[in-house]
Order: sequence, then structure tokens, then C-alpha cells
Amino acid sequence: MQRGISCRTDHEACMKTFYVTTPIYYANSLPHLGHLYTMIVADTIARHKRQQGIETFFLTGTDEHGINIERAAQRNGRTPKEQADYVVSYFKKMTAEFRLDTEHGGYDVFMRTSEPFHYQGVSELWRHLAKAKTPKGNDAIYKGHYEGWFCAACAEYKTEDEYAKPATAGDPPTCLIHETLLDRVSEDSYFFRLADYGDALLELYKSRPEFVQPESRRNEVMSFVAGGLQDLSVSRLRTSVSWGVPVPDDPEHTMYVWFEALTNYITAIGFGNEERERAVGFEKFWPALHLVGKDILRFHAVYWPAFLLAARVEQPRAIIAHGMWLDPVGKKMSKTLGNTVELDVLNRHFPIDAIRYFCLREMVFGQDGRFGYEALIDRTNSDLASGLGNLSSRTLTMIARYCDGRVPSGFIAEDKLLLAKRAGLDTEETAISGFLEHARDQFLQHLEVFAFSKALETAWSVVARIDKMISDAKPWDLAKDENQKQTLNAVLYRSAETLRWLCVLLFPVMPNATTEIWNQMGLGSSADARTPAGVNPAKLTWGELGEGTTIAEVKPLFPRIDKAKTMKEINDQGQEAGAGGRNDQASSTDVAQSPPASGGGAVSAPAIIEQSASGGSGQHATEADAGAVGVTSFIDITDFTKVDLRVGEVLTAERIPKADKLLLLTVDIGEEKPRQILAGIAQFYSPEQLLGRKIAVVSNLKPRKLRGYESQGMLLAASVGEEGKPVIATFTEDVPNGARLK
Ligand code: MSP
Repeated sequence: MQRGISCRTDHEACMKTFYVTTPIYYANSLPHLGHLYTMIVADTIARHKRQQGIETFFLTGTDEHGINIERAAQRNGRTPKEQADYVVSYFKKMTAEFRLDTEHGGYDVFMRTSEPFHYQGVSELWRHLAKAKTPKGNDAIYKGHYEGWFCAACAEYKTEDEYAKPATAGDPPTCLIHETLLDRVSEDSYFFRLADYGDALLELYKSRPEFVQPESRRNEVMSFVAGGLQDLSVSRLRTSVSWGVPVPDDPEHTMYVWFEALTNYITAIGFGNEERERAVGFEKFWPALHLVGKDILRFHAVYWPAFLLAARVEQPRAIIAHGMWLDPVGKKMSKTLGNTVELDVLNRHFPIDAIRYFCLREMVFGQDGRFGYEALIDRTNSDLASGLGNLSSRTLTMIARYCDGRVPSGFIAEDKLLLAKRAGLDTEETAISGFLEHARDQFLQHLEVFAFSKALETAWSVVARIDKMISDAKPWDLAKDENQKQTLNAVLYRSAETLRWLCVLLFPVMPNATTEIWNQMGLGSSADARTPAGVNPAKLTWGELGEGTTIAEVKPLFPRIDKAKTMKEINDQGQEAGAGGRNDQASSTDVAQSPPASGGGAVSAPAIIEQSASGGSGQHATEADAGAVGVTSFIDITDFTKVDLRVGEVLTAERIPKADKLLLLTVDIGEEKPRQILAGIAQFYSPEQLLGRKIAVVSNLKPRKLRGYESQGMLLAASVGEEGKPVIATFTEDVPNGARLK
């Protein structure tokens, strides 16, 4: 069953199949955004691989043994198994609601470490280790005595630099991560001779640079190992921790929960159990790509490979560590700290795909990010409602209106080319198809290295380009001119075909919305691919959207979210929950430790976190810049975010009779109707100079009337020189209308 220890990612299993895992989550408390995040990332990767025709196995699940689960069970008046069943039922409900379960094309197995086949497989691995010799010729496992401090929440022994000393002598120290008291452990224990594996591990990291990613984390792991490893206690006395897998041939000991939990990745697919091997296939799917939060990287990148080295089992394909979602003050979101974003709040207020998009777009993969409801609303409104959603509905609505609901031909005859050019269309179709192919390749390259944020940025540059093509060509005007029928058709064909490409590319990130667009485009019954899941993005070919395809009913995809209303609802619910008024099935005792001292309840729904993942340094830059021009009174970031600044495109501009300073503009800021804005710049800009310009607009300024015209916003301009000459703020790169400035 085992292969040699050197992993080559070009062997048969690696080429034809793919295995991706999330951590298995502790069954002591209910899941929150952090858990959801890793599942979303794994789900996206799995869907992307399946789209490429690779047989993929996606594992998630629960880690059900250990002292922390025993204690949670006790607090809730349950047995440990009942506690685990309770949390698992919630996890399963959650994964179904977020469409991450098997039924919705998500995970293939929800692994539970309380399963009998896991007991069998993990005992098999232990037996391998019990017989193994280390590279230095010692027994890999030996019996000894452990004396030290243990954090139940981390399930980890702590060294002196990993805990805070107590204020009063004699009290236990405190875990630096969970801020909870440590347990004193002094008992006989089995040890794994980790200290003998340092060189072999370093060799592994060196020979396979992709083994731990991103590189910054790899460096951390390497210097940890290079600093010298200590042997690891891998069992507890049954009298201290009874809820665990018994050590083979010595049932007075239970296995250390991390040893046993890590092994789930191979027992789930058949290691040590023939029935399971037949049902899934260790031979078929191993090695796995392990996705983990950076909080548990050491277990995955040091202990796990060392166990596998000792057992002579092939190493994982890679271990990819992502950053953490943080709370407003920059602390890791966790139940123990009581600062989590709850899934039922997210589910109630936001479309699933908006949450998926936000998580992947906002968190630069590998780095930490701060979660904010406001940022989530803004992204949903700008990138999804005004961006992709608007592109889809305007394209399909125009096809319905101008082409009898059938995708037109994109062909422009020789004698109409000049007319098309005059209408602002690039008549070389290869310009758009070439652009798309390039964007597609970039998108796929980013995905390959888990740079989700960059991949999505690339996809949105496509949205912007097509939006611009439509705004430049103005199909609504073309439709009035029979001579321009072919130009109109070409514009609509190009946007519809681009939409098809976007559906395929974005399917792994937004499976629901892209399938909905696919259906609205009339592709749901197509023989080749009834959903975008069935098209390999690498093989997308321009022009495969069939002329004459009949589109279906056009429905809005991402309705705009009313920010003030939604924030109020979230805050009100948070206060209710904080006051003990939480009415879902999660009892407040289902947290790892007692509720936090202040700041409201384990359900921190009201956490209004203004900064985005990239916002942390932004605030400093603002302060520094302000200082440079002598500002003495600073505003808070929340003051700044009261101003809603948007990218707008000037659609029309004209002078106003008898008002020589004013220009009357209509500006598209990504809303259904363009805004009418009056600007006092007529002495410095002609209307022609402004047409098509991308500008910055204050969109939430109270409307006011000037010379009988209502102005629904304000554009930003620098005031230069003594006469205060306005110089309009503009963008040198392509940005979509409605994008928020922050
Ligand atoms: N049971 C162990 C894992 C064993 S795997 C063999 C465990 N469980 S956990 O419930 O604490 O889950 C930790 C994981 O949940 C993180 O590594 C990460 O994947 C996810 N997250 C939990 N909180 C998170 C954030 N605040 N932000 C991002 N991900 C987070 O450790």
C-alpha cells in the first residue's frame, strides 16, 4: 500500500486525480466565518480541477476527540459523542446552506474521526511507527514521562515562550493565543522521536520548494526545524483523556489528538481499511493538497511529514497556509475569544456567491484580512450588482429587446465596417478575442498559485472592457439606425460571448450565479455543457456561442443591498444576541471556553469592521499624508467612510444657458440610471473634453437644485493656483463604473 518517501508530483495519481483537504474542525464549537473560508477556498480549487476533467476528491470534516471536546460535552450535559453529533449536524446544515455539500457539488466526504474505519487506519499507522527506526537508528516511538503545560484549546504542549507567566506565583500560566489557563500534565506517555527527523525534514523542504506555500511560511517552517526539534508526546493516560483512540496493545493510553487527527487525511480514503480503500482509494488519490490556516501550519508541515517519513508513507502534494480573518482590533477571529462573524448572520443578509467572491477577492491569499460587513456590502454592490450582474442583465435585456431574444451573429460585412468604426467599435474581432485569451491565461495562472484576488481582478478587467465597449458603441442609439444593425449585433454578440467566457472562468468561485447567467443565456440545455462546470476553461474558444441561441427570462442576479438598512439590521440582531436573545440552535455554551468578558457575546455580529484586507496600511498613509500638508485635526477612518466615493463615466455634457460657469453632466456610476450632476467647471473644460472620461464622484451628497436643475452628486477636482483652477481627478487605468474609492 505504501509508496517510497520521495514524492513526485508527476506520478500517475497526481496527474489524473486530485485530492484537496481542509483541516477537520474541532467538534467542540459551532463553525464561523474562519471555518467557512477554508471550505470556500477548497471548494473553489476542487471545482476548478473538476472543470479541467480531473477526478477530484475533496475532504472536510470534524476532529472529535480530546480533552476540549470532553469538556465542551460536560458543559453542555452531553456525552462526547453526543457533543460531536450535535456540532456535526450543525456543520452539515451549514455546508448545505452554503452549498458546499456533496449534493451541491462540494465536498466528497465529511470525515469524522469517531468513525470505526478511522480507528482502524490510525491504529495501523501507529503500528508502522512502533516498528520504525529513525534515520539515526533509534526507535521512532518510545515510552517516557511527560512533565509540562498543555493548552486544551490548541491541543498543544506549550514551551516557556508560548505562554504568559501567571501574575500570582502558583497559578497556571496562560496560552498566548487563547488567553486561557493551561493544564499541568505530569504522566507517563509515548513519545515520537521527532528530534531525529530534523535533517530529513530540511532535506524535504529543500528538495521540494513547493511543499510548503507561500514562501514566507516555508521560511518560517524551515527556521523552526533548523532551530532544533524536541521529541513529541503522542499519548495521554486514559485516566486523563478517555475520549480518544486507544494506543494499540496498550489501552491505558489514548493517542495524542493531533497524531490521530492528521491521520484522518489518509484513513478517509482507505489507509488501513480495505473496504474504504475500495470505496475511495488511497492508492488512487493520495497525495493530498492540504489547505490550512497558518495557525496550524506547524502540525501539518513538521509533525505530519515526520510521521509519514517514519511510516514510509508518501508525503502530501503540498501544504498551503492561508492567513486569518481578524477582528477589528486585529485579533484572530475565534470562538474562544468571542469575536467571530456568525454564519447565520451572513446567510441571512448576503447571497452565497457574494460571500464567496468577497472572501476570495478581499483576502490576499496567504495574508491576514479584516472582515467587515460594510466592505462586503460595498463589494457586492459595486463588483457584483453594478459590475458582473449589470453586464449580464444589460447584455441579455438588449438581446431580448433588439434581437428578438436570440443571440445575433457577430459578423460585420465589408461594406459596413466603416459605419461600425464610426460607431466606436474596434472592427477587428481578434482584438477582443485576443484580449480575452490573454485574460483567461492570466486568470488560470493566478488560480494555479492560489492568487485568487489577482485572478478576480483580471476577470473584472474583462467586465470593465466590455462595459466600456457597450458605453462607447451605445447600442440603444445603434438600434435606431437600420444601417447599423450589424454593428449592433456585433456589439451584443461580443458581450454575450464574453459573458459565456466569464461564466466558465468564474464558475469555481461563484457556481450559483454563473450557472444562473448560463441558464439565462439559454445555455442550460446545451448538449455539450449544461452548466459552466462542464467546460474546461483552458479550452474556451472564441465564437463557440451559437448564433440563434434563444435566451431565457432575464432576472437580476445581485440586487443592490441597501447598506444603511442592512447594517442596522445586523447591528440590531447583534445587540439582541449579545443580550442573550440569540434564537438559533446554537446555545451560547457551545463555545470552547466561557463567554468573553466584554464586547458582546460570542456572536459579534455588530462588529463593524471598516477596513478591508488591504486597508490596514491605507489608514497610515492617509495620516502621514495629512501631516505633510499641515493638517492638525485628524478624522477617524469611520468619518472618511461616510463619504461614498465612486468611479463614474461621463455619458453626456452640455452647457447651461445663462450659466457660464456650470456644465450639466450625466454620469454613469454603475446604477440603473445615470446621475445628473452640475459642475462649476465650464470656464476650464469644454463639454467635449469630458465625454467618456472616468471621474471620481461623491455619490451620497444630498441632492440640491442649481438654476432649476437637480444635482445628484459632486465630482472631485484639485484646486490649482490662486484662481483655484479645477483639474478633474481621473484614472489612468481601466476601472469599472461604480467602483468604490477608499
Ligand atoms: N482540529 C484542528 C485541525 C486538525 S486538522 C488535522 C483545528 N481545528 S479548528 O476548528 O480550530 O480549525 C482551525 C482551522 O479553521 C484553521 O486552520 C482555518 O482553516 C480555519 N479557521 C479558523 N479560524 C479562522 C480565522 N479566523 N480565519 C481563517 N481561517 C480560520 O485546528
